[in-house]
Amino acid sequence: MRTQQTLAGVVLGIALFSAGLSNAFAADETLRSLAEKNNIYIGAILNSQWFGGGLPGQYEQIHKTQFNIVVAENEMKFDATEPSEGRFNYGNGDKMVKYAKANGMRVRGHALAWHSQVPGWVDQKYGKNKKELLRVLKNHIDNVVGHWKGQVDEWDVVNEAISNNEPQWRGYSVWYQGIGPEFIDSAFVWAHAADPNAELCYNDYNLEQGISPKAKAGFLLEQVKRWVANGIPIHCVGSQTHVEDTTTDKHFIGSPDSLRALAKELAKLNIKLKITELDIGFKSGINVSKSDLERQGKTFREYLDIILEEPNADTYLIWGVSDKWSWLGGLNRQKGLIYDDNLNPKPAFDSILVRLQNFEPPQDTAKKDTVVADTSKKDTTVKDTTVKDTTTAIAKSAGPGSVSMYVAGHTLFIAGANSAKVDVFDMQGRPVFSAKNVKGSIDLKDVSEGLYMVRVRDGSANLTKRIAIK
Ligand code: G3I
Repeated sequence: MRTQQTLAGVVLGIALFSAGLSNAFAADETLRSLAEKNNIYIGAILNSQWFGGGLPGQYEQIHKTQFNIVVAENEMKFDATEPSEGRFNYGNGDKMVKYAKANGMRVRGHALAWHSQVPGWVDQKYGKNKKELLRVLKNHIDNVVGHWKGQVDEWDVVNEAISNNEPQWRGYSVWYQGIGPEFIDSAFVWAHAADPNAELCYNDYNLEQGISPKAKAGFLLEQVKRWVANGIPIHCVGSQTHVEDTTTDKHFIGSPDSLRALAKELAKLNIKLKITELDIGFKSGINVSKSDLERQGKTFREYLDIILEEPNADTYLIWGVSDKWSWLGGLNRQKGLIYDDNLNPKPAFDSILVRLQNFEPPQDTAKKDTVVADTSKKDTTVKDTTVKDTTTAIAKSAGPGSVSMYVAGHTLFIAGANSAKVDVFDMQGRPVFSAKNVKGSIDLKDVSEGLYMVRVRDGSANLTKRIAIK
């Protein structure tokens, strides 16, 4: 029986390939193309090493192929854009905006009012002088947001203004000490005036640790309610989501469920939730096993589910591409990203890819198109952004794209590959089959009937598809 199916498959497969009808299977699927199908943004920072030109070309190729939103790791911060008073430096930021436009990507600006990476002159010249600090902050926002008006789609207007333990405003901040909490409200108003169409976020970490009044997110929620009631132009909350993988109590380090609870509360206020700086690191110095990496992939997927499933969530941004270039070492963590040191995708990549592939939006919700009805902005919905441009960009940047596949019964036929690596995953993203050096076809006789994701890699060609084994 299987032999007959296999033969039939060979004949059909050859017929399809030679008739040029295998298109449905020929296009490469990336995180980016699948994110766009699901109306969400998926992204990664451009590391500071990219700005310095110190990364292999493969990094940029991966970045523009897999992601549709970008943010600079350090290059749009206060110390980078206004290193001395009134002398603005937009070189690196312009470079990123140009790259983003050339590749059809959305741009996040990070960050306008933050206690860290403020150049020394601010405190030295104006520390504790409220009037002068208000002038300095306004001038900075006017210039920076004004410079990128219409090009930076969203800004972290205020970053990390809440302290970690007993939630209250963070005391050690030149802005808070000199101005008081009103620097926050003012920053939003100034940013909105400088670019009325930019989406404006409050961004912070540890927001996945619950929404009780004792937790940071609980404190933040009270502030968001007040801002909304007072007409402060805030449109989104960014959850940095720098979390640690641990086998101990997950709730100690936060959980996807807690972040989802925050998303739901924000929805009631018509405010979006974005995941803006995700990494899931392991403690430095421990051996990280294959099953650790698979568990890490599952956690990446659980955070992605919030973005896919909550109507007011639209962005899933990772704080780095490869473990080789990551800030996590400074936090005593390691291996928190989705590509390894050699720029090979990790199980977390597969987990995200498979989830994006098999996500089916609930029938009864008009997912994402209804995100935030903000009347002060022309357009805040994902639907109305640069989807057309990005599609073109993907087509251009999808790499060789010459590999195609077709399945008949238990046989997988591969065209355009000389020596492919084939990986099969179940619909939860767990690996079920793997083979190297495949040419022509391979028998998946040990894989039982059902739906699977299969990935074929040959050199730089990389094709992932959903298949049914019957
Ligand atoms: O620019 C100097 C350079 O001139 C010098 O040669 C070099 C030597 O160490 O240091 C360079 O500055 C470093 C800068 O990154 C640029 O590479 C700083 O020392 C270093 O502290 C800084 O770290 C950044 C950190 O923010 C600072 O707070 C990390 O790269 C960046 O990933 C991190 O990003 C933050 C987000 O903005 C906010 N959320 C948390 C996140 C992680 O901490």
